[in-house]
Amino acid sequence: MGKPVIQVKDLYKIYMIGTNKVRALNGVDFSIQKGEFCCIVGTSGSGKSTLLNMMAGLEKPTKGQIIIAGEHIEKKNESQLVNFRQAHVGFIFQSYNLMQNMTAIENVAMPLTFQGVSKAEREARAIKMLKLVGLKKYMKHRPGQMSGGQQQRVGIARALVVNPEIVFADEPTGNLDSNTTMEVLKLIQKISHEQNQTMVMVTHDNHLASFGDRIIHISDGKIIKIEDNRAVAEAMAAREGLGAEGDAPPAEGTMETTPLPVIDVTAPGAPATDQAAAETSAAEDTPAEEEAPKIIVPEYDPMKLAENKENNKD
Ligand SMILES: Nc1ncnc2c1ncn2[C@@H]1O[C@H](COP(=O)(O)OP(=O)(O)O)[C@@H](O)[C@H]1O
Ligand SMILES: [Mg+2]
Repeated sequence: MGKPVIQVKDLYKIYMIGTNKVRALNGVDFSIQKGEFCCIVGTSGSGKSTLLNMMAGLEKPTKGQIIIAGEHIEKKNESQLVNFRQAHVGFIFQSYNLMQNMTAIENVAMPLTFQGVSKAEREARAIKMLKLVGLKKYMKHRPGQMSGGQQQRVGIARALVVNPEIVFADEPTGNLDSNTTMEVLKLIQKISHEQNQTMVMVTHDNHLASFGDRIIHISDGKIIKIEDNRAVAEAMAAREGLGAEGDAPPAEGTMETTPLPVIDVTAPGAPATDQAAAETSAAEDTPAEEEAPKIIVPEYDPMKLAENKENNKD
C-alpha cells in the first residue's frame, strides 16, 4: 500500500479542569495513507475535534508525535505552524467560514494570496476547483446567494486549491439537510478517490463514516476499532475470484453473514517506521513568483479564525 501521509504515535491530550484531569486523547496510534478517505467517528466528547485540531497543528499534544509529510508537527512553534498549515493543510468547516462580501472565486482563491501566487493564476486555479465541485454556474455568486450545500462546495474548493497534503473536515455536513449531506459526502469521497487526495473527516454519525475507506472509532480518547472497507472490498474480490474457479471455499455459516474484517488496534505500538520523518520535505520554501512577492500576513489563518467557533460545536 502507499506510504503514510500522517503518522500519529502515542498521542495524549490532557486538560486540567481545576484539579481534575480530562483525558481528551488517551494514547492514540494510527497512520493514514496517501489518497485515503479516512473517517474518525465517535460520540460527542469522545475526542474527535481534539484529535483533528492536533493533527492540523492547532493545539499542542501533552505527549506523543504527529508526523505529516515527514515533518514533526508537535515540534513546531506558532509561526512555523501557520506556514505549515498554509502550505500543506486544507480545512473544511461545519459552518463553511466563507467571506460574505466575496464571490465564490474570490473565496476559493484567497488561500493562494498568502502563497505569493499571481492574480491570474489564483483565479485560474480557483475556477478549476469550482468546476471540480460542480459550481461552474455559481462562480460569481456570493455566499448569501447560494444554498448551504453550494456554500460547502465552495468551502471544499477552497480547501483543495492549495493542493494540500491533507484535507481535514470536522463535521462538514453538520449544518446541511439529509439530501445535501449525502451529496456533499459523496463529493468528498469522489474527490478523494479521483484526485488521490488524502481526506480526514470527523463525524458523530456512523452511517456517514461508513463511506470512508477506513473508519477509526474513538471513544473516551481511545481508538476502540478500525474498520477497513478497502480490505473488505479486496477480500470480496478475492472470494469472487475463487468462486469463479468452481468450488466455493467452505463456508462457516452463510456467506451473507461473514463478518467484516475488523482490525483490532487496542494494542498500541503498531509497526511504524521513521521513514517518513527521514524524508524531510523539500518543498518547505516554495519559491514565490517574481511578479507577486510573498505577502506575510500571519493573521490570516482560516483554521485559527474558526477554531473557537468549531470547538464549541458538537
Ligand atoms: N479546551 C478544553 N478544555 C478542557 N476540556 C476540553 C477542551 N477541549 C475539549 N475538552 C474535553 O475533551 C473531551 C473531548 O472533546 P472534543 O475533542 O471536543 O470531543 P468531540 O469533538 O468528539 O465532541 C471532552 O470531554 C471535552 O469536554
Ligand atoms: Mg467536535
